[in-house]
Amino acid sequence: MAKISLDTVASLNHFYPAVAAVVTVHGRERPNALACAWHSALSFRPPLYGVLISEKRFSHHLIVEAGAFAANFLPFEKAEKIAGVGRNSGRDLDKFQAFDLSVEPLPDALAPILQDAYAAYECRLVDRHPCGDHDLFVGEIVRIHLDEAAFDADSALAVERIHPALYLGADLYTTTVEAAPRRLRGK
Ligand SMILES: Cc1cc2nc3c(=O)[nH]c(=O)nc-3n(C[C@H](O)[C@H](O)[C@H](O)COP(=O)(O)O)c2cc1C
Repeated sequence: MAKISLDTVASLNHFYPAVAAVVTVHGRERPNALACAWHSALSFRPPLYGVLISEKRFSHHLIVEAGAFAANFLPFEKAEKIAGVGRNSGRDLDKFQAFDLSVEPLPDALAPILQDAYAAYECRLVDRHPCGDHDLFVGEIVRIHLDEAAFDADSALAVERIHPALYLGADLYTTTVEAAPRRLRGK
């Protein structure tokens, strides 16, 4: 394999594809949303979910202020909305209006839950760790919102029905092919 100098690497795209989530937050004036490819489950008990957000993002201070966020998972068919919220700032526009984001009617939700999502984790912000030019926001999952038809009996995404939005970097999106999942338990 070729060794590439870090000076010549523009972005860390090599580990993709990754599911592109939409992270939502209640703002003082209006809700906001951004695309987030850097996110992960962190713990089962307590249930923790982490999102890495740069301090440059308008959403960063909104999440700190709200003390909450939601990670919404949209299908590939909605990738234009993901790209929209990922290439525009809530400083300049109302992204919910601009990208036609409808919210579940849940007045007590800690953050907006998107109707386009097949799953969403509603999180209370419990910790924040600086990681270079991003902050790891650690959220305790307080509610899981699901389109139950999107999952099989083991809570695995039914990829024959739902096509996840996978990000490749460089504004490229793809999805899974219609292959039957193989259950591999190892030896
Ligand atoms: C697919 C995709 C994934 C992204 N992932 C992240 C991410 O993980 N963390 C981050 O801070 N920004 C990420 N971004 C950039 C933000 O979504 C983008 O800067 C957005 O416009 C910020 O909006 P805001 O200023 O309203 O918060 C991503 C952008 C795209 C298109």
